Amino acid sequence: MNGKHVTEVHGFTSETGWLDPLRSGEISRSFCESLEDGTILFIPTLPCEMARQDLEFLHSLEQSDTATHKNISYRPKEDILHGFSASKPEEEKRMHRIMRTYSRGVVAMLGKLLFHYADKWSLDYASYRPYEEENRKLPLHKRHDLVHTDAFPSRPTRGGLILRCFTNINSHQPRVWLTTERFPSLARRYAEEVGLSKIIARQASPLHRVWKNLKGIAGLPAAPQTAYDLFMRRFHDYLKENHDFQSHSEKFVTDFPPHSTWITFTDIVPHAVLSGRYALEQTFIVPVDALFDPAKSPVRVLEEIAGQSLIS
Ligand code: SIN
Ligand code: FE
Repeated sequence: MNGKHVTEVHGFTSETGWLDPLRSGEISRSFCESLEDGTILFIPTLPCEMARQDLEFLHSLEQSDTATHKNISYRPKEDILHGFSASKPEEEKRMHRIMRTYSRGVVAMLGKLLFHYADKWSLDYASYRPYEEENRKLPLHKRHDLVHTDAFPSRPTRGGLILRCFTNINSHQPRVWLTTERFPSLARRYAEEVGLSKIIARQASPLHRVWKNLKGIAGLPAAPQTAYDLFMRRFHDYLKENHDFQSHSEKFVTDFPPHSTWITFTDIVPHAVLSGRYALEQTFIVPVDALFDPAKSPVRVLEEIAGQSLIS
């Protein structure tokens, strides 16, 4: 394992938890704090036991690489599988069971490893990424090989942070990531160019307020996109569009070896994936107040720059 700002987790197994339970609170706190600083936590194993036949099944899936069919996803709260259709119903069942097992395995592991967050996070989707990431032909904003911070177009977090656990289930090849400096310094450099003031002004405009109220009256979900969400979405696109940033900023390559797992806040840590195939991932949304230092969250960093709240 190589890589800058990557911390390997020692003395922990997903089955038994901490080898030194007396220090588990202190160690767990230090891992949460390093995640808040933009570290990637690295665990050299799968998060739970996965049968060889299940891994082989995942590896055997057809690669249908279109922009619309991006991921096979699993919604753990509803126990629903999405984006996977197989000719045989037993394959669908199998996929569903594998995704459920992985998701539960990650929740159990992170529940021990980061237990300070565990009663506050909200469990989001899991996904399976069967495609070779090298040379994928995707539209600019959907490209994974350009450095970006994550923001979900259809699931605003309203200030919550995106914590993601990835597992490379490829038995031979590493998954190769590129990272760069963290969100706070990029935000200080680019926030105005991205349009922070304009987004705030638009959200505060009388027209926008009328629209928000009308949506409420019509029974539509009350404008879930806060200024924060709009900014983060725009920032994601801006970084991918910024040729100078993509070509000249200092970057660090990290190889995540076969059958390893890593965890990071993907809105604090700009990242891209250069190559690799077959990854599983589980997302959590962590509220700002769950952080040991909320000032390190992207929303508080932006609010400090803007001098006002972005989520009201
Ligand atoms: C991403 O979130 O940008 C992709 C990361 C990965 O699939 O390794
Ligand atoms: Fe991403």
